Amino acid sequence: MFKINENYLKLPGSYLFSTIAKKVAAYKQANPDEAVISLGIGDVTRPLAPAIIKRLHDAVDEMADEAGFKGYAPDLGYSFLREAIAEHDYKARGVDISIDEIFISDGAKSDSGNIQEIFGQDNKIAVCDPVYPVYVDTNVMAGRTGTYDAGSERWSDVIYMPCTKETGFAPELPSETPDLIYLCFPNNPTGSTITKDQLQEWVDYANKSGACIIYDAAYEAYITEDNVAHSIYECEGAKTCAIEIRSFSKNAGFTGTRLGFTVVPKELKCGDVTLNSLWARRHGTKFNGVPYIIQQAGAAVYTPEGKAQLKEQVGYYQRNAKIIYDGLKEAGYSVSGGVNAPYIWLETPDNMTSWEFFDKLLNEAKVVGTPGSGFGPSGEGYFRLTAFGTYENTVEAVDRIKRM
Ligand code: MLT
Repeated sequence: MFKINENYLKLPGSYLFSTIAKKVAAYKQANPDEAVISLGIGDVTRPLAPAIIKRLHDAVDEMADEAGFKGYAPDLGYSFLREAIAEHDYKARGVDISIDEIFISDGAKSDSGNIQEIFGQDNKIAVCDPVYPVYVDTNVMAGRTGTYDAGSERWSDVIYMPCTKETGFAPELPSETPDLIYLCFPNNPTGSTITKDQLQEWVDYANKSGACIIYDAAYEAYITEDNVAHSIYECEGAKTCAIEIRSFSKNAGFTGTRLGFTVVPKELKCGDVTLNSLWARRHGTKFNGVPYIIQQAGAAVYTPEGKAQLKEQVGYYQRNAKIIYDGLKEAGYSVSGGVNAPYIWLETPDNMTSWEFFDKLLNEAKVVGTPGSGFGPSGEGYFRLTAFGTYENTVEAVDRIKRM
């Protein structure tokens, strides 16, 4: 008789964004004439940039030709893409990353969920609270988080690092030493970030305590301030303690086409074993690569035209972020984020819970957001709005919230 992975039964409820999608679908079914605006999940709305589309078409044509046809992609990804990444994402920022430290994947969600597999069962994880739910849920599935306490909404074997107004929405070094530290800057969901000097403190701490940082830099394209690092490897010593996960979703609109990468430096070791060799083994065994045409489209991101078009696209969402931030502030909300990130984080008014505010916003303004408590217990009393809507919808949503 087969047995199931009972760790899955420990997971409370469904995945946050699935729960929201179900609630919104039910609302729309009951209110078919209402024009609901979604500022919930961080999904982009601008079409792929012309340079990317052109490269996609060209790559499709190559696949139609016997000489140009490609089958399985190389294990780590095509070198033309890994070379572009090494050059433009790293060398241009003074960081030396070799192409065999870069692993092309189908996105940061998969990589941030899968990376825990190369670590032992008895590693203790530390996460920001609130946090992108994938980090915790995948460790629950792996049986690494202990038991769940529904009252406190916490796992017994997870170290929570609260990021609230009181901490400036930044985590403090934990008093108990973790083995794995998940950090995401600029942060999802709070939209805040930390300076390069503050990040250096985390790197120094990890090196000193023998911890590994799993650094999610999916939102680096939204950084506007000079003292914020775009990559953790801008910090001294990061190559011996950090894995970096990057995405093409938010900077280039690949949420539907799927592309990302993870950097595992060869200097990152447990005894004599490099994490790079373990991730290469995992990648080779369980993943058959991102389609050639998508990797070509990714390479177009780094061309002069691609860069110019994407600067404009990111600027479009940054303008939305400012509209939301300024509009809500004007309406009397306490808001943060939005300066180096496409997320605006607000305090729910009148001591409402995050889900109460979700219902109010949906029923009265017909606007969908994400309840802060869905990202962890310290998110209770907060709410996230995304800047990834269209400009028109963003303006309209802010107007409706103001009229509420
Ligand atoms: C979010 O809304 O938090 C993100 O879009 C989810 C994701 O990138 O997977």
